[in-house]
Amino acid sequence: MTRLGVLVSGNGSNLQALIDATATGVIPGQIAVVISNVPGVRALQRAEAAGIAAIALSHKQYASRRQFDAAVVEELRRYDVEWVVFAGFMRLVTPVLIDAFENRIINIHPSLLPAFPGVDAGRQALEYGVKVTGCTVHLVTQDMDSGPIIAQTPVVVEDDDTVDSLMQRMHAAEHETLVRVVQGVCEGRLAVERANARPKVSMRKR
Ligand code: GRF
Repeated sequence: MTRLGVLVSGNGSNLQALIDATATGVIPGQIAVVISNVPGVRALQRAEAAGIAAIALSHKQYASRRQFDAAVVEELRRYDVEWVVFAGFMRLVTPVLIDAFENRIINIHPSLLPAFPGVDAGRQALEYGVKVTGCTVHLVTQDMDSGPIIAQTPVVVEDDDTVDSLMQRMHAAEHETLVRVVQGVCEGRLAVERANARPKVSMRKR
């Protein structure tokens, strides 16, 4: 079974979807460790409740991003992690982490990238006035929110949406999309083709 490391910073509802899907066998993988850069968050409690190793590594304890990333890599290696999932991990990362798990890190973002990268993607979508937004799962590369796209799911924006109501439907879409992608990863169906500097990815059908 594929060994997964999940990186988080907050609530952990996407982590919960992964915990549930590994527990039921929908994802044929095992979450070996959950690491948060913020101590005391709900995501760590969710991991502990599921009997998964839960580690808080406060980024504030490290002098640089690279040193923090090196500590993360050390933990991921200690738990024999093969694939890394950023599930609400709110940190910019350096080549120290990206090169250690080259093309084996995925991120979930609450917009249809390349629209609305960065924080507050739901608010950005409402302020812009788009009628459809959605979520994106992509490979993590050096540039924030711009690695090769693996999967996207649309979410329709309603006229009376608030950030909260939109994000509620967004989260449902995220959970489904992330589980589907991680399932494919663990089933060995994610093909990464290094055509040029930007790898092309596709998910083979079952
Ligand atoms: C999600 O919207 C994810 O796309 C973004 O941060 C949020 C995390 O939510 N990167 P949760 O912690 O999984 O509930």
